[in-house]
Amino acid sequence: MIASEPLTVLGIETSCDETSAAVLVGAPGGAAGDIRLASCVILSQDVHRVYRGVVPELASRAHLKAVGPVVDRALEEAATVLDRVDLIAVTAGPGLVGALLVGVSYAKGLALATGTPLVGVHHLEAHLFGTALDDPAAVPPFVGLIVSGGHSLLLDAPRWGEYRLLGRTRDDAVGEAFDKVGALLGLGFPGGPAIEREAARGDARYRFPRPMLHGGQRPGDPDYFDLSMSGLKTALVHAARASADLASDRPHLARGFQDAVIEVLVAKVVRAVDLTGRPRVVLGGGVACNQALKQALAQALAERGAKLHAPTPRIATDNAAMIARAGLFRAGEAGRVVDAEARLPFPGLSLL
Ligand code: KG4
Ligand code: ZN
Repeated sequence: MIASEPLTVLGIETSCDETSAAVLVGAPGGAAGDIRLASCVILSQDVHRVYRGVVPELASRAHLKAVGPVVDRALEEAATVLDRVDLIAVTAGPGLVGALLVGVSYAKGLALATGTPLVGVHHLEAHLFGTALDDPAAVPPFVGLIVSGGHSLLLDAPRWGEYRLLGRTRDDAVGEAFDKVGALLGLGFPGGPAIEREAARGDARYRFPRPMLHGGQRPGDPDYFDLSMSGLKTALVHAARASADLASDRPHLARGFQDAVIEVLVAKVVRAVDLTGRPRVVLGGGVACNQALKQALAQALAERGAKLHAPTPRIATDNAAMIARAGLFRAGEAGRVVDAEARLPFPGLSLL
């Protein structure tokens, strides 16, 4: 493959509960603005609502049924055919291994049948590339905050492919905490969007702890950038149990929870910007749908002369467009063995 030639990339994502395929056209070494997303089809699995959480076995079975038709539809919407695809990019991890295996096996089958090069993509790196797809100005150097249902990561990105880990969650991912609190408050699954809706109707009468955030912390302390959700969740459980009228307290509990999460995330991002001097923050992952979080981050950063780059909701939650975009960056790795790995290490990530 020649770096300057535009490639047609087929992306496939099946790491959790979205079956998605996308077609993107762009040159691996080209400018961000030259990349064109030709199609992106996302099928969200509804079955998990009944269980208030993703059931791995059901997710795998649903991917198996959907992956073929979703890929066909993405090719059709892009007005192309498999023979014109130059590169197949598939999520290799992290994620549910049974779910990942469906996408990886399908992609391998397509690659083998057509002779098309295949590249494995790291789902979290792809969340950063997703934001860049929406907003071509979201380029390194930046501070990245990835907050999804399975992961929370704060990192410094001097350039694409090179990352320094600043902080991560010690227990639940931020989205996972939203989902658990949503279930606790009887708001269904996923909890994030429902909590945001409730919180908008609530006031600030509940003030919950801000885990791992206090004034005495200094750069180099292990909890300076790390996150934790468990103490906050426990405080919420106690407050919900103590409530005499949960139905009327629900919006205020949701608001108290969301305010605490946002304050912690904003403070940690601001610390990262102050330490690294990066002019940009790139937000990624499903929690990036949260308007209140985006507003608070944008405002705190503007006060420091830095800018927030956030994805649109369609790109924030899991999708194959971001996988195709990350695959384009990693086109040079095509030919390496691709395996589904539940705990795939973040490529190029080093400790600070
Ligand atoms: O990135 P994503 O689609 O899947 C994973 O890779 O995990 O993220 C899904 C997560 C869920 O936990 C969901 O509750 C959360 O994103 N989420 C939100 C909002 N919309 C989705 N969290 C807070 N506020 C929202 N508006
Ligand atoms: Zn994700």
